[in-house]
Formats: sequence, C-alpha cells, structure tokens
Amino acid sequence: MMKLGVLTSGGDAPGMNAAIRAVVKTADYHNIEVMGIEGGYQGLIEGKLHRLTSTDVDYIADKGGTFLKTSRCAEFMKESGRIKALSILKDYGINHLVVIGGEGSFKGTQKLHELGVNVIGIPATIDNDLSYTDYSLGFDTTLNTILECLGKIKDTDLSHEKTTIVEVMGRYCGDLALYSALAGAGEIISTPERKLSFEEICSKLNEKIKSGKKDNLILITEKMYDIQDLQKYVEDRLDVSVRTSILGFIQRGGQPSAFDRILASKMGITAVELLLKGYSGRAVGIKENDLINVDIEKVHSKLSSNDDKYSLLDTILA
Ligand code: F6P
Repeated sequence: MMKLGVLTSGGDAPGMNAAIRAVVKTADYHNIEVMGIEGGYQGLIEGKLHRLTSTDVDYIADKGGTFLKTSRCAEFMKESGRIKALSILKDYGINHLVVIGGEGSFKGTQKLHELGVNVIGIPATIDNDLSYTDYSLGFDTTLNTILECLGKIKDTDLSHEKTTIVEVMGRYCGDLALYSALAGAGEIISTPERKLSFEEICSKLNEKIKSGKKDNLILITEKMYDIQDLQKYVEDRLDVSVRTSILGFIQRGGQPSAFDRILASKMGITAVELLLKGYSGRAVGIKENDLINVDIEKVHSKLSSNDDKYSLLDTILA
C-alpha cells in the first residue's frame, strides 16, 4: 500500500503551492493517502505531519510562498538528522516522498533514496540555477516581478535622465538578470557568468552617455560586488549621479504566473505517476518544452555560461 509524503524545502518559490496541489490531487485520484510535511526537512525531523486531502489544496494554486512552509535544514545534512527523519517516515508508514525545492534540497532527497525511500524531486527555485532543466518553478514569476520593478525605476530614470544600478537575486546564477535584459529591461548587465569589472561597467556607461542616452539601468546579480562601492566608483569617474536599488525579497513573493502554475501542475502529476511506475531517485524537469526526468544524483548547479543567450544579448545591447 502506497502512502505519500510531500514537502517543500529551501527558499520558497512561487508555484510551490500549485505543485503541492497537483501532487495531492493526483494521489487522491489514484486513491493514495497523502501526508503534508510542514517546514521541509526540519519539520520532518520534528514530526510535523498531517493528512492532506484534495479539498485542503483547493485554494492554494494562485498563492505565492508555500502553505506547507519551508526551511533550510542544517540538521538534515548530517547523518543523525536523516536517521531521525527516516524513523518518522517509518512511524507514519510513508514509503514514497515528493520533495519540492532546489539543488540543496535534492541532495537530501538523494540521501533518502539511498536509505530506501522512494523519492521524486520537483525543481523550485527562483534562481533557475539547475543545469538539467530549462526552468525551475518560481523563475518566471520572479522574472515578471523584476520586470515590473524595472519598468517603474525606468519611469523615474527617464524623467530625471538618471542611471540606476539594480541588484537582483539569483545566488550564483545570472539568469534573472540575463532574462530581464533579454526582455528589454537593462542597458548594461553583469552576472556571475559574464562578470564585468567596475572599469568595464564604467566604460560601457560612458559610451551610452556620450551617445546621448542618459537613463541607463545597470543590472547586477547579487553577491558579486558591493553596490555602493560600484556607485561610488562610477560617480568618481563620470560626471553623473547614480542611484542604487536592491530589489530584495519582493522578488520571492507574489502570485505565481500562469506559466509557473501550469508547469507546477504538470510536474506534480508527473512526480506521482513516476512513483506509481516504480521510479525513485529522479528529478522532474522540462527541456525544450518536453517534460523529462533525470537521475537526481546528476542534478547540479548551472556552470554553463548560457552562451547562446549571452550572444543574443551582445547583439541587442551593443
Ligand atoms: O535561492 C533563492 C534565493 O532567494 C536566492 O536568490 C538568494 O540568494 C537566497 O535565496 C536568499 O536566501 P535566504 O532566504 O536564506 O536569505
């Protein structure tokens, strides 16, 4: 008899709720009992589980965050934490698990798979930093949120003929900045994959100003530089006053886009169906519009420089 657990782990991402909904509804359809695990792996270790039925997830698909709550759980990274988690799963008779999260969460999923639990991962992180899938849940919504913010900053930059340096999230992946610029917001971008020095940013900005363009958005991925140092560097060298804006956690919340909701539904259904077919230790993804699943052990952070997309950018930002 199959009994399924579902949890969300790591940073919350819009679309997580839609994925939970799809998992629970699909399980219900197949008469599988589902337990919702609250607060990710931490909640699992602490035994925070409760029964979830279809009606419990009726009104969550359009909500940001995760109604199951989440955590970044250091204890689960240790063997002792995983042993505790395993014994809770045994106590509840849960032999199948769907984990909705990013790369760090999938490492835990892999460990549970090695311990004999049947597990499937659904990728959810606004950073879009997983190499095996074109999109992770949350990325599209966050991208749209960023574009909305950049549009507002552009209104005031245009009115005052000002330049603003905007820092966006992404951890060590530049996709949020890259795709924002591809979508038409941002004159100069610097990402971990294509990191510009202060000098290079300054010289690109100088060229724009000399050509008559005085409103310029400089998009940078977080964790690369101190945005105030960059502002000072530019102001010291060019005769401009520069604004700065760190978009921060506004990027992580909000109603998931249609794209994220639909993708979440497809991935949630697929995860349960894979478990029903006897698969374990797999991560669901999407590649060139096809749903795929890969060995979760082979899931890594993106290291590629997204060359094709950067060359598109070189053309339109030249
Ligand atoms: O992984 C999602 C993300 O929002 C990153 O973009 C960011 O660097 C990080 O999480 C922030 O993490 P925390 O919520 O732990 O501060």
